[in-house]
Amino acid sequence: MSDPSDFIEDPGPFEPETSPEELPPAKMEPKSFAASLIAEAAVRAEPRPAAPQPAADEPPPSAGVPDEPTVVTDISTAEASPAPTETAEAPEQPDAAEPADASQSVETAADAPGEVVPFPAERAASESPRALRILAIANQKGGVGKTTTAINLGTALAAAGERVLVIDLDPQGNASTGLGIDRKNRALTTYDVLIGQASLRDTILPTAVARLSIAPSTIDLAGIELEIGPMRDRAFRLRDALTALTALTAELGADDAFTYVLVDCPPALNLLTVNAMAAAHAIIVPLQCEFFALEGLSQLLKTVDQVKTALNPALAIHGIVLTMYDKRNNLSDQVVDDVRQFMGSRVYNTVIPRNVRVSEAPSYGKPVLVYDLKCAGSEAYLRLAAEVIQREKDMTERLAG
Ligand SMILES: Nc1ncnc2c1ncn2[C@@H]1O[C@H](COP(=O)(O)OP(=O)(O)O)[C@@H](O)[C@H]1O
Ligand SMILES: [Mg+2]
Repeated sequence: MSDPSDFIEDPGPFEPETSPEELPPAKMEPKSFAASLIAEAAVRAEPRPAAPQPAADEPPPSAGVPDEPTVVTDISTAEASPAPTETAEAPEQPDAAEPADASQSVETAADAPGEVVPFPAERAASESPRALRILAIANQKGGVGKTTTAINLGTALAAAGERVLVIDLDPQGNASTGLGIDRKNRALTTYDVLIGQASLRDTILPTAVARLSIAPSTIDLAGIELEIGPMRDRAFRLRDALTALTALTAELGADDAFTYVLVDCPPALNLLTVNAMAAAHAIIVPLQCEFFALEGLSQLLKTVDQVKTALNPALAIHGIVLTMYDKRNNLSDQVVDDVRQFMGSRVYNTVIPRNVRVSEAPSYGKPVLVYDLKCAGSEAYLRLAAEVIQREKDMTERLAG
């Protein structure tokens, strides 16, 4: 595939000037590089011009919950902020929130009509409207948990009352499949959006989880570089589609617009990932607890830096989430320690354990939170959602103060 800088070099409409300042070394230059990059990134959380405004927006056809006939699982209701938090089999969970109140429930209707699944996290679904937050889940390595995180963090955020859109930007379409979207139902996809043949709104489908929708993808997306590579706005296709979606919903005056967009990136630093980074407020980086966890991270951070310089100055690193932690494997602890040492507070306290229920759930087309709410993987994703929400609050307060 191509070098990400190929797509970054042309600044396009957003930032006409392309002079990437000197870039950090490509090799992981321990603390100094990572720390400075992250410190810098953390400060730039201000809303960008292109960033959708909060407000009253109309839900895309599928965004709504209550009157969504296809919505099967209602992870409804909700109470205030930080979702539940409980310690699973992951290591240190310092400020994980309070234990979940397991008294709530989720209605499943689709394939199990009437079934009620206990669900802990609940908070007011309709707090005052606020700005949409766009988070790209990126790591050019495959198999590190990007898609699993998009699906399950999305579900956990929806459970916490957020209105979430997952955008599948991987030609493999695993997020679409994992959320139960049959290939034959993917009439319009993110490919159509990026080539300018469909609006994002037209691709959005409801999922079995209330308040969670998806813009699906198919293998067509693999050819996107050939299609839009030569175009000047090639890096901004997704950003512009999101801006149009937000403008439309605002215009329609809906009060249940999305509050989070999670973009599931492909395992490459290609034009698709650059589109996600150019559109996002921040990036979530899943890192698998394995020996080579940090390998490739400097390249990823370098790309983030290039995107900040040339395409999206406000891009921040939201956090790094350690995935597939295995408590029986000493190496996992070593990796956790190393990553925390290099990346400091950017690493979420929540660590996602390796959990067989997490890997089984996609074959049923369900998030693990619906497949088995009580398993360690589900509990971990609920804690992660609580942390994400908390970081959002902290960012907002920092900006306000
Ligand atoms: N916490 C976990 N426990 C067990 N298996 C997991 C976990 N997270 C991801 N997996 C499995 O690992 C594989 C790769 O995960 P995936 O999310 O598809 O990675 P990526 O999107 O980065 O390629 C999948 O088979 C997935 O089911
Ligand atoms: Mg994936």
